Amino acid sequence: MPAVSDRLSRWTPLIFACALVNFLLAQTLIVAGMTWPEMALTAGSTLVTVHLITLGWLTLLMFGALFQFVPVITTKPLLNQWLSLAVLILVEFGLAGMIVGFLALNHGASGLVYCLPFGGTLVLAGVLLAMGNIVTPLLHSRPLALPGRFVLAGLAFLLATILLGLTFALALSVPAFTPLVAPLLAGGVGYHVLAGLGGWFTLTAIGVSYKLLPMFMLAPEERGWWGECVLQLGISGFGLSVSAGLLSVWWPQAVLLNAVQYLGWLAIVVAVMAYLIDVLRLYRTRKRARIELHNRATFGAFLSLAAALVIAVILVVSHRLAAYAPALVLLVLFGWLSGLGLTQLYKIVPFLTWIMRYSHQLGRGAVPRVQDLVDEARTSPWFVIYFLGVALATLGAFINVAYVCRTGVTVSAGATLGLAFEYWRAWRGYYAGRARPVAPIPPPCLSRGGPAP
Ligand code: HEM
Repeated sequence: MPAVSDRLSRWTPLIFACALVNFLLAQTLIVAGMTWPEMALTAGSTLVTVHLITLGWLTLLMFGALFQFVPVITTKPLLNQWLSLAVLILVEFGLAGMIVGFLALNHGASGLVYCLPFGGTLVLAGVLLAMGNIVTPLLHSRPLALPGRFVLAGLAFLLATILLGLTFALALSVPAFTPLVAPLLAGGVGYHVLAGLGGWFTLTAIGVSYKLLPMFMLAPEERGWWGECVLQLGISGFGLSVSAGLLSVWWPQAVLLNAVQYLGWLAIVVAVMAYLIDVLRLYRTRKRARIELHNRATFGAFLSLAAALVIAVILVVSHRLAAYAPALVLLVLFGWLSGLGLTQLYKIVPFLTWIMRYSHQLGRGAVPRVQDLVDEARTSPWFVIYFLGVALATLGAFINVAYVCRTGVTVSAGATLGLAFEYWRAWRGYYAGRARPVAPIPPPCLSRGGPAP
């Protein structure tokens, strides 16, 4: 079994901080009216904001969490801790290049448009390094636990998303390449989005939540055939709908491809429903009587996922998906994925703080508990405000009233700032001083890697 230092991802706090800055930046752009819904979906500033959220915030957040939790899931160390820092640098610089490229496209600055594929290539390099770091311990772990298999599947979809994005970037910036992939650029963006939001983020978030929810609620971790069904249906659902969808870009009349795509959609719906039912089972079978704030607040994210599923089904059946897709994407990005990220950070940050700052003091006097590093009463209103803001923004997007949408994002941006402040306080041990002293725990606890409950 690796030592605690092997299981602690040294760069995760910095990755989380950078991810939060990107999220706040993206929200600021929306609040300032510089993106959709004020501007066109294809406007450079909209694309900048979308990628600040998808790459700068959510992908970095996932990497930060995976660098920390894959060694815990597998009991094997990461390939190399320094790779995590290299990933952060490559993704941030790549994203900066993409931002310049998107803005250059809009302003006709032809010399700078090459920054788009160049930035995308840096992001690809960062993603490949991250995959090496994460996949190595996963492949050395036998048998691989369910969360690990979700993560492997998610990473495969991430690679597909990035490669599609790079193809678009080349098509937009290298004229000689454009005719080759013109149909893909015209009809394939939806599958870039589906592979990213569904295959990468949602499958990985489900996998990580299958580790975190039981771990922090003391619920049974073994999900049996039910969890296996969620995994298999999720992979085949997103796999079929993305691949059949991409092929249908070239053969739009092929009935078989349409049928396969619908089969994929059906599998996704069943997988997400089965997952949400499993989450309820997890909450019901937990041993910890009191649900901590992060897991209470996560209900907002699960509710967003359920709402997105119902809305998506209605839109697909009524053939109105294309018209309302941006509003649906907003709900998924802000409600489900960012909601889950922000709520889980509220546990992960004090958890990491505790291991980094206090675990070595065990047995040498009073040590605060993980829960002593946060003030739940003070923080809970921020979560309520965040999800209310998301609900308002989603409503504004669906009824197509830009100022309602922007007001909603303004509210959730304020709440994100409030939450960031609370993470900072947890990290700095601000509330630890008020902690009631606890009985010293003997050092052997360290070798099991468990923090004080
Ligand atoms: C996790 C990874 C990614 C996700 C989830 C993602 C998501 C998205 C989304 C949601 C859109 C639609 C935006 C809109 O319609 O306003 C989009 C468009 C686009 N993405 Fe990405 N993206 C990712 C990575 C990348 C990368 C690495 C590149 C490479 C440069 C890229 C290039 C593009 C381009 C060029 C478009 C616009 C295509 C067009 O003109 O319609 N994406 N992406």
